[in-house]
Amino acid sequence: PRNASRGDDGVVRLAGVDVRELAETYGTPLFVIDEDDFKTRCAEHARAFGDPSLVHYAGKAFLCTEVARWVAEEGLSLDICSTGELAVALRAGFPPKRIAFHGNNKSSAELELAVEAGIGVIVVDSFFEIARLADVAARLDVVQQVLVRVTVGVEAHTHEFIATAHEDQKFGFSLAAGDAAEAVRRVLNASSLELVGLHSHIGSQIFDADGFEVAARRVIGLLSELRKEHGEEALASLTTVDLGGGLGIAYTADDDPPPPAYLAEQLRTMVAKECEHEGLPVPRIAVEPGRAIAGPGTVTLYEVGTIKNVALGHGHERRYVSVDGGMSDNIRTALYDAVYDCRLVSRSSDDGGASVGAALSRVVGKHCESGDIVVRDCWLPGTLAPGDLLAVAATGAYCYSMASNYNRQPRPAVVAVAGGQARLLLRRETVEDLLHLEAL
Ligand code: LLP
Repeated sequence: PRNASRGDDGVVRLAGVDVRELAETYGTPLFVIDEDDFKTRCAEHARAFGDPSLVHYAGKAFLCTEVARWVAEEGLSLDICSTGELAVALRAGFPPKRIAFHGNNKSSAELELAVEAGIGVIVVDSFFEIARLADVAARLDVVQQVLVRVTVGVEAHTHEFIATAHEDQKFGFSLAAGDAAEAVRRVLNASSLELVGLHSHIGSQIFDADGFEVAARRVIGLLSELRKEHGEEALASLTTVDLGGGLGIAYTADDDPPPPAYLAEQLRTMVAKECEHEGLPVPRIAVEPGRAIAGPGTVTLYEVGTIKNVALGHGHERRYVSVDGGMSDNIRTALYDAVYDCRLVSRSSDDGGASVGAALSRVVGKHCESGDIVVRDCWLPGTLAPGDLLAVAATGAYCYSMASNYNRQPRPAVVAVAGGQARLLLRRETVEDLLHLEAL
């Protein structure tokens, strides 16, 4: 987070709040969101893409009522992919017109909730959905704006992207097979639907514009064909090309993602050039960053419980540092081999103060599974003791939102810090909460 510091007194503070005080007041594991960091990233993306409403914060990264309010205040739009996320957004008073609904299997009931709420756009993803949504909208006497999600055959992660052969997935309408053009035909034929744009999402944790460029070029190629088939007038409302999410962040000091302004400028230049080449009016470029807004500003605080040295042979050993959470609050290391940075932020006693070098450590959770790893390899002070506090950085995206109750572990609390104050956003789950689900 931008507002993390270690004072001359050795105390680590997040937005001016002592981490020891946070752990004492709210317990651990604890997600701590730097509110200004989150809002600043919203504003940076809004500036970069010219109009805040073209930046859709992807709520799947992390969403609760207060965060939805921050996104609303910053003028951004919001992507949801479930009616649970919709309920949170509506409760926050998020303007429904600035909400977009994603997903490959939205039921009629879910579509009806969304249309009734008056949400801005629905990103249609299958022929079944187009028929379902056309019915629902007609029944409710609404003309619903939609985007058609196009599978452009690009898959990108960090620097690498593959520009062919990634049609084999559940999302979107295949461009190559002609399904995307057929989806557009069906939408245009439905009087209760209005086509306002095309959508593509190519992956996540992307560090450069190449993959987006190939995707945009293919979407613009489709636009050009659609103009030939349907004429200018039929497509007059099709003004947006949404290039999805995926903007990468720094998880460790080795990562160097480009600032959003740089990416926005590259995309704008490329889309303008491509449209000029095809003789098309230049569309508005929308994006859907989740990780790039929510990720960097949050840390997870854990308390060390046990420490164990395991011999690896040849005189080497690995130190296993067990913390009081794990794969139930951060599944990303186990699931994606994600790499995190971890620091000692407070010692339980002063005795360990005279640190003797650093030890290669593996930070593991408390779950009954050997793959329950939070940080695979990191250097931590040689003298660690139970009760010490560790902070894992950049855990704001896809950690709480993918948290589980594995081993009947209650989910952690989430607090926001700003200007020396902490506020509880989500209280810690209790075992009683879990027992309440039992029907017998
Ligand atoms: N838009 C669409 C249509 C998406 O499917 C996603 C992510 C996003 C936007 C936001 O992507 P972001 O900017 O946050 O990369 N659980 C994984 C990431 C899965 C993302 C799924 N879709 C992780 O923890 O890395």
